[in-house]
Parts: sequence; structure tokens; C-alpha cells
Amino acid sequence: MRRQIVAGNWKMHGSRAEATQLVDSIVAGFNGGSGVDCVVCPPFVYLHEVSRQLRGTAVQLGAQDVCAEAQGAFTGEVSAAMLRDVGCQYVLVGHSERRALYGESDAAVARKFAAALARGLTPILCVGELLAERESGRTFEIIGRQLDAVMAVSDVSTLARAVIAYEPVWAIGTGLTASPEQAQDVHAFVRGRIAARDATIAAAVPLLYGGSVKAGNAAELFAKPDVDGGLIGGASLKAEEFLAICAAVPARKS
Ligand code: 13P
Repeated sequence: MRRQIVAGNWKMHGSRAEATQLVDSIVAGFNGGSGVDCVVCPPFVYLHEVSRQLRGTAVQLGAQDVCAEAQGAFTGEVSAAMLRDVGCQYVLVGHSERRALYGESDAAVARKFAAALARGLTPILCVGELLAERESGRTFEIIGRQLDAVMAVSDVSTLARAVIAYEPVWAIGTGLTASPEQAQDVHAFVRGRIAARDATIAAAVPLLYGGSVKAGNAAELFAKPDVDGGLIGGASLKAEEFLAICAAVPARKS
């Protein structure tokens, strides 16, 4: 049985008071018995406080980024050990905004992935193509390259402790969602790419879809056989909407 996960990436939004209120509402409304892992990823500065709020609840904590280095003179960076220290279980690596706006290369993302694993964090590796890449028929080439870069640094066996999120860049924050068929096609490709190295690992790794997921479109996306949940941006900032997305994950798939 693959784990099914809905993770909320808050990005750089909200205040301390809003974070507290949002987490209170999510905790109050999340039915931990539904078999879905619910994760929230607030900005760094709110992690510690949110971690305290989540103690003893079914909701888990993730960060939005991590430094590839273990420690040292890296002004402004946050290490995997620090994230563990404040109670994170998950961390996003290679989000398209990090790749596009902060110049993170495939190689840098691969190092972050390894750093997260080394400290016992579950990396959520984000992959996805630009609109121009999709339109020129290069979607699989791009995603294959992003995956291969990680598997060149971390053995395929490490994917047993990881999650992959397919986030087409053209669908992020745009209101344009990949159709369930487009998402399924890419998810099947990702699983196949991993299966070429290890079929057992490929069958077990949770693959999330992200990009304009809302309560209204989540169920049809999550119904696809290789879609094991979602990575949610804007809609994760509204507790009711986020909880509805969590509730849209169907009964466990094989
Ligand atoms: P939206 O759900 O706002 O499109 O963002 C998706 C995303 O980037 C999650 O990481």
C-alpha cells in the first residue's frame, strides 16, 4: 500500500497570528483516521511554533527548503538538522520557484535531497516542466533529467524514504490545472523511470500532483491510479478548502 499524502505549501504568506489560526482550524477539522497523511509547510520562522501546536495531533510538519550543507558559514541558510530539531518530518526540495527564481540547478537539488535524507527528513522532490517545454513535446525529457540528477547522487533505494511531487510550472498559481489524464501520464512516466532501476521502490513511492489543486478538482485528480495525493499552494491557506482536499483522497489504492 502506498502512502497517500496531502501537503500544504504556504509559500511566503501570512503572519504569525494567521499561521496559528490556520493550524488550529486544520487540526480541529482533520480526520486522522482517513488514511491520508496531512502535512503543513509554513515559512521557516513559524516552524517552531507550529510544531508545538501540532504535538499530539495527526497533522505533520514540513519545511519549504533546506540547505545542502550540514553546517557552517552559510549565511541565511537552514540545515536539515535544524529542521529536525524544530520538529519537521518533511521538506520540499527543488520547488519550481526555487529552481526558477533562485537558480537551483538539478545538481543543487540533488544535494539538498541527500542532505534531507541524511538527517532523517522525508524529502518531497518537486519536478515539473515549463509551458514551452510541454508545448515542444519535451515534458518527459525534462522530468526524466530532473529525476536522474537525484538518482545519480542518491541510490534509487533512498526513494523508499522520499516523496515525489509533479508540479507542472504552467499550472502553479495560474488556475490552470493539468487534466487528470495529463497528471496520470506524467506520474506513470515517473514511476516507470524509477522502475527501470527498481520496480519495488517504484511501486511504493508516493507521487503527488501539484498545480492549482482546489476542493473542486481534487477528487478527479486523486482518482487516477498513480496520483497518491497533492501538493497544495494557494488552497492550503484556507483551512476549509485544504481539509476538503484532504477528504477528497479516495480509499487506499494497492
Ligand atoms: P498552487 O496550488 O497555488 O497552484 O501552488 C502549487 C504549488 O506550487 C505547491 O507547491
